[in-house]
Amino acid sequence: MRKNASKELYKQVYDYVVHQIKRGEWKEYDKLPSVRALAKEFKVHRLTVLKAFQLLKEDEILYVKDKSGYFVGPEKVLKENEGRTISTYVENNHLSTIHQVPAAYQFSKALIDPGLLPNKYFSEYVKKVFDLYPKVLGTYSNVQGDDELRYAFSSYLLKTYRFYASQDELLITSGAQQAIDLLAKTLIQPKDTILVERPTYSTAIDIFRQYGANIVGVEIGPSGYDLSELEHYMKNYRPRLFYVNPTFHNPTGYTVPVVQRKRLVELAEEYKCVIIEDDPFRDIYFKGKPPLPIYTFDTEGYVIYIRGFSKYVSPGLRIAVVVCKHPLMKNLIIAKSLADNGTSLLDQKIFLLYFFSERMQIHLSKLRTALYLRKEIMERELNDTSWKWTSPGGGFTLWVEMPEGLAVDQLLKSSIKHSLTFVPGIICDTQGRMGSWIRLSYSYANEEQIQKGIRLLIQTSNDLKYFD
Ligand SMILES: Cc1ncc(COP(=O)(O)O)c(C=O)c1O
Repeated sequence: MRKNASKELYKQVYDYVVHQIKRGEWKEYDKLPSVRALAKEFKVHRLTVLKAFQLLKEDEILYVKDKSGYFVGPEKVLKENEGRTISTYVENNHLSTIHQVPAAYQFSKALIDPGLLPNKYFSEYVKKVFDLYPKVLGTYSNVQGDDELRYAFSSYLLKTYRFYASQDELLITSGAQQAIDLLAKTLIQPKDTILVERPTYSTAIDIFRQYGANIVGVEIGPSGYDLSELEHYMKNYRPRLFYVNPTFHNPTGYTVPVVQRKRLVELAEEYKCVIIEDDPFRDIYFKGKPPLPIYTFDTEGYVIYIRGFSKYVSPGLRIAVVVCKHPLMKNLIIAKSLADNGTSLLDQKIFLLYFFSERMQIHLSKLRTALYLRKEIMERELNDTSWKWTSPGGGFTLWVEMPEGLAVDQLLKSSIKHSLTFVPGIICDTQGRMGSWIRLSYSYANEEQIQKGIRLLIQTSNDLKYFD
């Protein structure tokens, strides 16, 4: 434990213990070192350690056995306590906090480099919208979304993925994040069990926690899920929903194969579990097109599909579409009306004119090439290390396993001092483990920044002291 002058010592001990448990150093029911031993190790007074231990006991993270000392409590309790831990480590590493750190080498944002968007053309589309709809700022949008845009989406989905969704089955939201939030609000009751992938998009974890969900993680690997584990969870926990990002997954870049997509729908039907499929990276493929959305295999209405466009059209327009056959659509529209009374009509019209244009298709194909090159540069620089990752077939990020013993939190702190940021894996995991993984985004920094930044990151990690 490194001492931090601005934080009381007992809190630092508290955080250290929580951190060690999350890293898996101390597992549930393990005995902790004695108060005396820890005090000696941390060079603090015994009462300081005792105070931290008592607080951990009050929070049910530790428990005491008569005369035998302090033991790690059940894993479930740590999970439930997560929202109110006094750890500044966790608070300081939420995605939005990391994004606010100004950095010359920005590897934390899974956002598109604004320089790659066709900015100079956008003004033409804005002007065109005012020519075509002179009163566009004088009115609200339909709450469910502009009729013309929903009609265009309905045709697009049919043409592109061969599935028919009527305009009534479509809801336009202000970004995919709002869609997740509205779905969570309408589907989740406090203490409902839900499933998410491990790791997952960390903001989704924050949203689901806010609605009091009991979150269970399902591991995702380069070839998808362990389906028997998934079935076990569905059977035993009867989850309300499973939030998935199966195509060029954030943060791993993995893609779930077709056979698993079909099986997932069968399981959803069998155990009456709603699947929320979040699909913002689908069009950013490098070699071949990814498998069709899970939504296309669903006949019973168990899959709800969210398609966001911030990743390659414009994060500023805040446009996503939710496709939902489920009776839930009625409640979703009510939730949307209470949230913002409809997405900005101006934004929807700009999107409408741009997204379905030929220029958009040309832009998209250039974008794929540019991102592929950036990914290649990042991977080439990383090739000289012992770090491990699976090269993704698309998307924005590499999910990298760091060598054993490397303290990722220390690496992040040192990197920030060198004006470089990345996402520590711990915040993408609902169990707060995955402490030895990091997410590196190659979509925001340019080629030169990627080359220099990755060299700097490697140098910074070499300069770090490894955990004893
Ligand atoms: C998987 C995933 N879903 C949703 C979002 C939110 O997207 P939006 O900007 O459309 O709200 C992101 C953004 O990073 C994401 O990675």
